[in-house]
Amino acid sequence: MRHLVVGAAGHAQEVAWSLAAQRGGAADFLFFDDRVAPGRLASGLGCVVGPLDAIAAHARPGDRLVLGIGLPVLKARVVARLARLGLRWETVVHPAAIIGPNSEIAEGSYVAAGACVTVNVRAGRFATINMHCQAAHDAVIEPFATLHPGARLAGGATIGEGAELGTNAVVLPGVTIGAWAVLGAGAVAIRTLEGERTYVGVPARPLSVRQRAAAGGAR
Ligand SMILES: CC(C)(COP(=O)(O)OP(=O)(O)OC[C@H]1O[C@@H](n2cnc3c(N)ncnc32)[C@H](O)[C@@H]1OP(=O)(O)O)[C@@H](O)C(=O)NCCC(=O)NCCS
Repeated sequence: MRHLVVGAAGHAQEVAWSLAAQRGGAADFLFFDDRVAPGRLASGLGCVVGPLDAIAAHARPGDRLVLGIGLPVLKARVVARLARLGLRWETVVHPAAIIGPNSEIAEGSYVAAGACVTVNVRAGRFATINMHCQAAHDAVIEPFATLHPGARLAGGATIGEGAELGTNAVVLPGVTIGAWAVLGAGAVAIRTLEGERTYVGVPARPLSVRQRAAAGGAR
């Protein structure tokens, strides 16, 4: 089966490598990226064929799409853009990830090497659970949410649609992170945080308007 990988940067290559491992090493990848020049990838995983608009011309019935993008907003945009192709999205789980009983990983999601998803966890479509993340019992990860490497969800935590957890961020038991919120690297969410804002620190607090202005604008 051929796989059309959306994205060709480092993260996309990690996803493709994980899929090859999941399939016992046999995989046929074509990469597409608006910013990476066509040609063979140094990782040896395949070739960049062209920009995302070139996917339609190369797609054949039975091909699967692979989401090689980690940022939630971009994931949502790209999935909407490619919906008209009617191709299925691959669900990628590296064989060195641990998935416990009654845990569900929905279509189009990615679970990386070293991640640990325990029991009764729900991960919605196009969720990203990167290297060495933990999702403990009864955690919910809504569609398009991304956990960057090392992020940890305690039992019963809920990550809203399109929310992004920076590397090594922590969400305490039962805490909800609102939709499209960003929790900065190393932040610890000790109580529920509303959506569409950026939070940093321990305990996590909103990035102030002053800090946002000084940083050159709002996300
Ligand atoms: C929180 C985050 C999104 C903010 O990014 P930004 O909007 O570009 O903000 P800036 O980097 O300009 O920083 C703005 C302020 O927040 C502070 N800040 C930024 N990230 C922080 C963090 N993780 N923890 C504590 N403070 C942080 C900065 O020190 C700065 O404070 P100052 O104005 O007092 O100097 C980003 O820093 C972050 O942590 N992203 C996570 C990315 C990640 O983990 N990627 C993994 C890829 S594998």
